[in-house]
Amino acid sequence: MEKFYITTPIYYPSDKLHIGHAYCTVAADTMARYKRLQGYDVMFLTGTDEHGQKIEQKAQAAGVTPKEYVDNIVAGIKDLWKLLNISNDKFIRTTDDYHEKAVQKIFKKMYDKGDIYKGQYKGWYCTPCESFWTETQLVDGKCPDCGREVTLSEEEAYFFRLSNYADKLVKYYEEHPDFIEPQSRLNEMINNFIKPGLEDLCVSRTTFKWGIPVTFDPDHVVYVWVDALSNYITAMGYGSDDDSLYKKYWPADIHLVGKEIVRFHTIIWPAMLMSIDEPLPKKVFGHGWLVIGGGKMSKSKGNVVDPVVLCERYGVDAIRYFLLREIPFGSDGNFTNESLISRINSDLANDLGNLVSRTAAMIIKYFGGTLIADREEGEFDDQLKELALATKENAERYLDGMQFSNALTEIWKLISRTNKYIDETTPWILAKDESRKARLAAVMYNLVEAIRIAATLIAPFVPSTPQKIADQLSFNEEALKWENAGKWGVQPASFTVKKGETLFPRIDTEKELRYLQENNMPKTGQTEEKPAYESLPEITIDDFARVELRAAKVKVCEPVKKAKKLLRLELDDGSGETRQVVSGIALWYKPEDLIGKTVVVVANLKPVKLCGVESRGMIMANDMPDGSARVVFLDDSVPAGAKLR
Ligand code: MSP
Repeated sequence: MEKFYITTPIYYPSDKLHIGHAYCTVAADTMARYKRLQGYDVMFLTGTDEHGQKIEQKAQAAGVTPKEYVDNIVAGIKDLWKLLNISNDKFIRTTDDYHEKAVQKIFKKMYDKGDIYKGQYKGWYCTPCESFWTETQLVDGKCPDCGREVTLSEEEAYFFRLSNYADKLVKYYEEHPDFIEPQSRLNEMINNFIKPGLEDLCVSRTTFKWGIPVTFDPDHVVYVWVDALSNYITAMGYGSDDDSLYKKYWPADIHLVGKEIVRFHTIIWPAMLMSIDEPLPKKVFGHGWLVIGGGKMSKSKGNVVDPVVLCERYGVDAIRYFLLREIPFGSDGNFTNESLISRINSDLANDLGNLVSRTAAMIIKYFGGTLIADREEGEFDDQLKELALATKENAERYLDGMQFSNALTEIWKLISRTNKYIDETTPWILAKDESRKARLAAVMYNLVEAIRIAATLIAPFVPSTPQKIADQLSFNEEALKWENAGKWGVQPASFTVKKGETLFPRIDTEKELRYLQENNMPKTGQTEEKPAYESLPEITIDDFARVELRAAKVKVCEPVKKAKKLLRLELDDGSGETRQVVSGIALWYKPEDLIGKTVVVVANLKPVKLCGVESRGMIMANDMPDGSARVVFLDDSVPAGAKLR
């Protein structure tokens, strides 16, 4: 059985978690459930990152030991994951004994390799982020990640030779174009961190105690990020007597992380792994933030939304659905009470909930609850079937690219189409005519089949809802198997439905908004002014003229073997010679969408090899807010080779 290993970041148990933290875990859970349904042997890891100065200070302020402090919060985090129906296979705490021992071994291994040396640290430290910064990296003298005060830190410390790894990292990124996603995050890493020069990293602290001691110099504790990142392998038994899980599951298929910690996962972590001669994870996906009124939701800003309150009020599946549908996974998304209520009312209560209850009610009314096999095909059936049968593949394509919102949009297209089918086939008119009974039965059966397919496909996102639908429409286990979402006619010829509870009760918007306001939920309506994007430094027309942009006609286009995201294109660029380019757009375009089209090629770009295939230049595309890409097509009247300026 093929394995799939997915991780979330391990969370700081310094405060209660908010809905922004839950967002990442719900996304990872959806992916884990999806892969399990597809038949993968899944390992889904989450946990807590319990050491460091921040926790030590919090515990001191609370008058308890650091361990007492974290134990209490970790218990709450575990309860939250239970509430949110998170299906993690393992939960690691960095205070677990086996982890501490393995981290000490990892540190020693890097030291023995010659990658760690002793020196003197002088620089700035952001305690809330547990990050070191140089003077030039600070923004207005504050932490560039969280904007909070930094402290000057001067202490004896061990350093990791990160600077030795810059070239190796860049080479690795080039050879593994899928390693960092979305693509924009890769550019950020190269431009903001690697190009300005990687400095050696301070990897031990002596000014506080709450950490894992360095075995060969116990006044030092291991830097909390080195400790934390190691969790992904120590949780699998790396460095312990039993490393069978490590052998089975490592390298991880996806590390899912928030955008501000991508640099730890794509620079420091790979360099650590290279140093200890272990394979690198296959992918680091950096998702955006849940923002509120334009700013990141965070405890220090006092704008956090408590996931427990939301789940109790609206139900777990409604909250999971909202998080995954409303916010395109790669970008930031604004949390508003208005959008939450509107999603619940329109998508869940109206589109899905009503469809199920109407269908059950009609079968009860017209057939006494039991549908019989006698069926007659008719108009609109083919359209419904066609869309239903395409939905699994469409949703999978997006799920494979972690585009949860788009995957849900595909499923909701089927739900809307099914609702429309009721309006088109007008069962209430058919019911008046005894001679149309067989047609009416067919319409009911088709509705149930379309709902079965949708119910199966929503399972990774809203895991409790499919069973509730199954109870009403009498789906058995077989009917809800993932592979059967790609088949029509799985529901037996005869079955009995029953009226069930309302799946998603409708909310009175005005009343609810008033309630939320009166009960001190953060105001979410307004958005701060913020620039739409960061501009690059100004260039002259001569700088621009150094880029050769040409129109080109796509002659051949095909997938690249073993690279889900790549397409190989042969272009007529007017030069008389065929130009081969490789483009990372296979998630969004099929070869036939491109063949014959006129595209823009950056013609004087240095050739590179992507997954072993040479690419001479690249075709231009727009970055979309959801992390997908849209190719720039030119008017077909533009001849091959025409220059763009
Ligand atoms: N302990 C480190 C991770 C170590 S991984 C080896 C850490 N912990 S954290 O608790 O501060 O954050 C955990 C995750 O929650 C991060 O991926 C972060 O991006 C995510 N989020 C925290 N606030 C968030 C939002 N408002 N929105 C979306 N995700 C957010 O970092």
